[in-house]
Amino acid sequence: MIAIKSEHEIAIMREANQIVAEVLVTLAGMVAPGVSTGALDEEAARLIRAYGAKPSFLGYLGYPKNTCISVDEQIIHGIPGKRKLMEGQIVSIDVGVKHHGYYGDAAVTVACGKIDETRQRLMDATDLALSRAIAAAKHGNYLSDVSRAVQTTCEAAGFSVVRSFVGHGIGTAMHEEPQVPNFVTREKGPMLKTGMVIAIEPMVNVGTYDVRVLKDGWTAVTADGKPSAHFEHSVVVREAGGEILSATPKLVWGRRTN
Ligand code: MF3
Ligand code: CO
Repeated sequence: MIAIKSEHEIAIMREANQIVAEVLVTLAGMVAPGVSTGALDEEAARLIRAYGAKPSFLGYLGYPKNTCISVDEQIIHGIPGKRKLMEGQIVSIDVGVKHHGYYGDAAVTVACGKIDETRQRLMDATDLALSRAIAAAKHGNYLSDVSRAVQTTCEAAGFSVVRSFVGHGIGTAMHEEPQVPNFVTREKGPMLKTGMVIAIEPMVNVGTYDVRVLKDGWTAVTADGKPSAHFEHSVVVREAGGEILSATPKLVWGRRTN
């Protein structure tokens, strides 16, 4: 069963996701050579609590930190710590909160200093894929229309979409039905209806889509060590396409038009 949220519930989820977006703006602004991923995580914890919310990743299935910071060949679930960012890397920042009983979840990948053309194209394609997926999140479409938008956009650019992790419904739990794959199968999936809320999160690799999980039990890295990008928004299905809950004018992603 995929929950249909009331406008009241959506309003609370918008508040939760606005907190997430504000935290992402601040962390994205801190990304620079020499900054440790742990420093980003500490600032996130401080800000989330200052906004009166709770960091939802902390303690989730034993996860030890407040955010996931995934650098270069790390795809998702990078555990923040002593590692210092270096010029030329791309950095995925993933933030989740719980606020008045509802979850917010979003992520953005940003450049650390000057990056090469491949990493820039990877980030652009992943961002564009998210935008097109959000546009496809409209009432009457099927879930596979969302997945297809991601896959075709990324593969047309020569990149591959990760198979072993997917997006998800979100609401009173961080992960609700349905799973939101970034690739299509023979299933067209459930029909999307106004009021469904999904976290769409393309994870896109320069090389193979194969994944390896590090000995820490969390960090997912590309099997070939090549870079990966990750963007995420929490999105409400509407008649005209997805409404982004985690958007902010200070840092724009998932809204590309070309
Ligand atoms: N943002 C991730 C997701 O969408 C959650 C991170 S897993 C955690 O699934 F353990 F860090 F919480
Ligand atoms: Co998510």
